[in-house]
Amino acid sequence: MTSVASIFDSMAYGPAPEGHAEALAWIAGHQGRFGHWINGAFTAPGAVFETRNPATGKVLAEVSQGAGGDISAAVAAARAAQVKWARMGGQRRARVLYALARLVQKHARLFAVLETLDNGKPIREARDIDVPLVARHFYYHAGLVQLLDSEQPGLQPVGVCGAVIPWNFPLLMLAWKLAPALAAGNTVVLKPAEYTPLTALFFAEISREAGLPKGVLNIVTGDGDTGAALVAHPGVDKIAFTGSTSVGRKIRQATAGSGKALTLELGGKSPYIVFDDADIDSAVEGLVDAIWFNGGQVCCAGSRLLVQEGIADRFHEKLKRRMDGLRMGDPLDKCIDVGAIVDPVQLAAIKDLVAGSDGEIYHAACAVPEGCFYPPTLISGLNSASHLMQEEIFGPVLVSMTFRTPGEAVELANNTRYGLAASIWTENVNLALDMAPKVKAGVVWVNATNLFDAAAGFGGVRESGFGREGGWEGLMAYLKPAGKPKRLASPKATPAPAEALVEGMDRTAKLYIGGKQARPDGGYSQAIWSPKGKLLGHVGLGSRKDIRNAVEAAHAAKGWGRATGHNKAQILYYIGENLSARAAEFAARIKDQTGRDGADEVEAAINRLFTYAAWADKYDGQVKQVPMRAVALAMNEPVGVIGAFCPEEMPLLGLISVMAPAIAMGNTCVLIPSQTAPLSATDFYQVLDTSDLPPGVVNIVTGSPQELAKPLAGHLDVDAVWSFSAAPVSGLIETEAAGNIKRTWVNHGLARDWAGAAGEGRTFLAQATEIKTIWVPYGE
Ligand code: NAI
Repeated sequence: MTSVASIFDSMAYGPAPEGHAEALAWIAGHQGRFGHWINGAFTAPGAVFETRNPATGKVLAEVSQGAGGDISAAVAAARAAQVKWARMGGQRRARVLYALARLVQKHARLFAVLETLDNGKPIREARDIDVPLVARHFYYHAGLVQLLDSEQPGLQPVGVCGAVIPWNFPLLMLAWKLAPALAAGNTVVLKPAEYTPLTALFFAEISREAGLPKGVLNIVTGDGDTGAALVAHPGVDKIAFTGSTSVGRKIRQATAGSGKALTLELGGKSPYIVFDDADIDSAVEGLVDAIWFNGGQVCCAGSRLLVQEGIADRFHEKLKRRMDGLRMGDPLDKCIDVGAIVDPVQLAAIKDLVAGSDGEIYHAACAVPEGCFYPPTLISGLNSASHLMQEEIFGPVLVSMTFRTPGEAVELANNTRYGLAASIWTENVNLALDMAPKVKAGVVWVNATNLFDAAAGFGGVRESGFGREGGWEGLMAYLKPAGKPKRLASPKATPAPAEALVEGMDRTAKLYIGGKQARPDGGYSQAIWSPKGKLLGHVGLGSRKDIRNAVEAAHAAKGWGRATGHNKAQILYYIGENLSARAAEFAARIKDQTGRDGADEVEAAINRLFTYAAWADKYDGQVKQVPMRAVALAMNEPVGVIGAFCPEEMPLLGLISVMAPAIAMGNTCVLIPSQTAPLSATDFYQVLDTSDLPPGVVNIVTGSPQELAKPLAGHLDVDAVWSFSAAPVSGLIETEAAGNIKRTWVNHGLARDWAGAAGEGRTFLAQATEIKTIWVPYGE
């Protein structure tokens, strides 16, 4: 028999299972079968599929497989409810969001148990992390929307939002999509993941108690086909997706050219960097949260350990000992650390990936239950090219490598196509804060890991997607400028006249690449005629090769991103000053090309340069108030290399309105100027040449937007593509951008008032920056 003394000796403890009677009773109350939640009620179950408890393999319930008709009905309900919901005003919507937060708290235990049953995650996590974060998200957004109308006037909701979410945090991902969408006045059709639909259905049912009007929230269950039908539905104005990078890429392609707004929160292979001066015990304990939280089925899991060589052996030893102490078992047992894998399909994928590894595999010596479980695993001895250093495993498997210097740590950390999160462990605050900006990630935790809060933006860069969830920045993705934009008329190039007027010396303007004039690689050029039939000159017709050269030059100039705001401001002022000295000449050029007086445009362009010179050192980050002893710094970082198709209609102001915010925020750029009036751009590079701008920061490739859209938007070293061109290239750009999931900002044929308020300001600055959230906990 076990004696008290022996328990003190072994510190073993017995199971402490959480009851599941209420959760099963709720399912039984629906006869174990669910329809969709459309227009405030459940539909009759149609063709159904089973959702199982991954820990036992037992069927929990049957849910309906949504088809096109279900999606259409849900979108119609959402559309019908949208205007009224938006007109309720921010402060009345705030009450509903507040009520939703309270409801989540009132039903917290049922939510947690249902989540654990359906997903297999430890009840400790569902109860102490997922559900409290869900409530916090609704509370926080109740606050945001209370302030929305006064703090952010001039905006309107996007309309009907389609949300597609994964199975790893079913209720939390619902909250991350729903809270900002509803707060902003949108209505929603949400598709939960096929493995984990139950908490979403329970949430929908109780949402009535919060006073959520019918049709504001609709839930259609089903698999990837249902998701694809939602994405493709023409009645949806925005898609918000969290899931795998491969599906995110498909969604980018499917929505290209549709005018639908899109945010993607995708996969990751996040580095967990441990320096030799780190508090090793804390760093080992942090790893438990980084990679064994939710069985490693976490997009931002610290799945790639990079440990400094001098402490690597000691660190791995301690880590293995800690792994051996992890407890796996029934997810409803409050004493376990690691639960079940969500589905046998996912378990098989993990096993396959590990079997293909060339590293040294260590499985924790803990008891592994029968069924859908996989032991905590460490794979060491890999090199940076190893398959498993690059691939997201999405299971409790940590891969490990060593590094020698901080520089090497940065290189290894960034040697991935992803850029979601990173953890940095060191007792040297200067080193941590030096590393944080260098690591390519949307979120960085210093001496911590997997901290989340509604106030702090979460999201990635590179193939981890774009857009942030949380904070004002997250809310903005669900809003657009008020009013209806006009369609953009396409200005036609003046054709060669019957009788040409040719005066003076022939001048052929070249491309501008890496601070030098460059002949177009293809050797073609285009004549530019004035409306009166005068030959104004020739410009080069850029090609794929010229785009490649320009991107290479922009890439090489990325050091510009490290220039101080003050320094960038000085250069922008200088460009403005030099343009001002040649104002009359630039005004005449505009008149020659367009037939209209150019003086106002030149004046507005100088002013715009001064505006962004002013912004260069004033677009500050923020310190987010997170509910713990930590600061979360929201830092505005440059996006990288921006490719931009400039407006046709304002050849100088348009170019500068695009270039100036990009370079003010530290980006380098490749600009495709107005095709019909490109000479203002080719004159302008002479101004750049005399303004101390480092070579390669601005590159100009003249030519046809239609020809250049594919190579520029498809280039893997370009981080974002903008288009304000009158040419119909928006869809092409969005399709090509799917390759490396780059950010896009395109006009879909809609006009912008370049001379007015819409031509400058925070929208441009937000597009020219990525917000990196750096978490720094404090206290001993
Ligand atoms: P997934 O990306 O296929 O599924 C996510 C959601 O998208 C689900 O609701 C699914 O039904 C839906 N979906 C699937 N195909 C779709 C399509 N063509 N159009 C619209 N919606 C579609 O993820 P899955 O299959 O569940 O997991 C596969 C891998 O994805 C995992 O092993 C993991 O590597 C990764 N993953 C990453 C997540 C993250 O948070 N970053 C979350 C879930 C999975």
